[in-house]
Amino acid sequence: MDFLTDPFLVSSDNFDGPVLVTGAGGCIGAWVCAILSRSGVSVIASDLQPSPARAGLIIGDQAASALDWVALDVTDGAAVAELVASRKVRAIIHLAGLQVPFCAANPALGARVNVEGTINVLEAARANNIKRLTFASSVAALSFPAGGPHKETLYGAYKVANEQTAFVYWADWQVPSIGMRPNVVYGLARDQGMSSKTTVVIQAAAMGKAYDIPFTGAYSWLYAGEAAAAFIAAISQDGEGAHIFDMNGRCESVESSLEIVRKLDGSAQVSASGTQFPFPPDLDETALRTHVADYPTISLQQGIEDTWRAFKQLEKSGRMPALPE
Ligand SMILES: NC(=O)c1ccc[n+]([C@@H]2O[C@H](COP(=O)([O-])OP(=O)(O)OC[C@H]3O[C@@H](n4cnc5c(N)ncnc54)[C@H](O)[C@@H]3O)[C@@H](O)[C@H]2O)c1
Repeated sequence: MDFLTDPFLVSSDNFDGPVLVTGAGGCIGAWVCAILSRSGVSVIASDLQPSPARAGLIIGDQAASALDWVALDVTDGAAVAELVASRKVRAIIHLAGLQVPFCAANPALGARVNVEGTINVLEAARANNIKRLTFASSVAALSFPAGGPHKETLYGAYKVANEQTAFVYWADWQVPSIGMRPNVVYGLARDQGMSSKTTVVIQAAAMGKAYDIPFTGAYSWLYAGEAAAAFIAAISQDGEGAHIFDMNGRCESVESSLEIVRKLDGSAQVSASGTQFPFPPDLDETALRTHVADYPTISLQQGIEDTWRAFKQLEKSGRMPALPE
């Protein structure tokens, strides 16, 4: 299914050594590894354990298993530092993290992974003079200072800590970094959490099943390949300073996505109900696009069509993943 990653391929000339990806088994990590490996860039795919399943959906199981997988727990600072030094890592895309419900269920573990894990990555960058480092913050960081329109979460508090820690690593030790706040990601391999429902609806329709998205109205549509491409653009040259950018994708209504699905399959039984999703749908990403190298803009139409086509092909080849709850 080369059509998925073709729009995002990059020149390997822009990279002068291995790129370490943490959280490579996750949705965005799978896309990052798929794009980098198809571009001929040396990539070390790390996660708690080798996790090629999501990348396999994008580039096929064989290519995903053939990635350079390393078991790396980011809470183990010595292991992170050792890997970065021994493998002569030149750039880091740090995506490992626990999401909102996991941080709420186990706050101390959430802090160890999301806060201490990011410190371990920054520390390894500092020790190894890494000039290309990007990490995932989140729009959840925008809930602070507390008392604004968006619900405060421990996850968001930890992401704020990441952003401010990165600033100190630049101010005190000149470790450059770019923190990204992705809004809601959709596309193949987006299969967990409340905000995955806008991907699940496409899968359900492709399987001929009825599906109701439990929210309506304006929504941020950030295609997974586009988000991955932004992280890759952020490490395609040496950095300077500690930057934080919002990454929004397209702001369109949930209802307009259903129209696109219905045009792909006139018999699709898809609907949406409830109130608006509780995140700002229209963050300005101009600063990000001005700062980093150019990367593609995927329309809602193209993102949904490609996701639909991918699900259809997976179904045809008997590889359709189970429909998430
Ligand atoms: N998907 C979104 O809509 C979205 C939006 C905003 C921010 N983000 C952030 O982007 C990053 C990637 O998102 P995603 O959707 O790919 O997440 P994901 O949950 O799909 O993947 C996260 C990965 O981190 C790994 N991980 C967990 N604990 C670890 C540890 N101790 N050491 C190493 N790896 C560990 C998990 O195994 C998983 O594969 C996360 O930091 C997330 O908070 C995602």
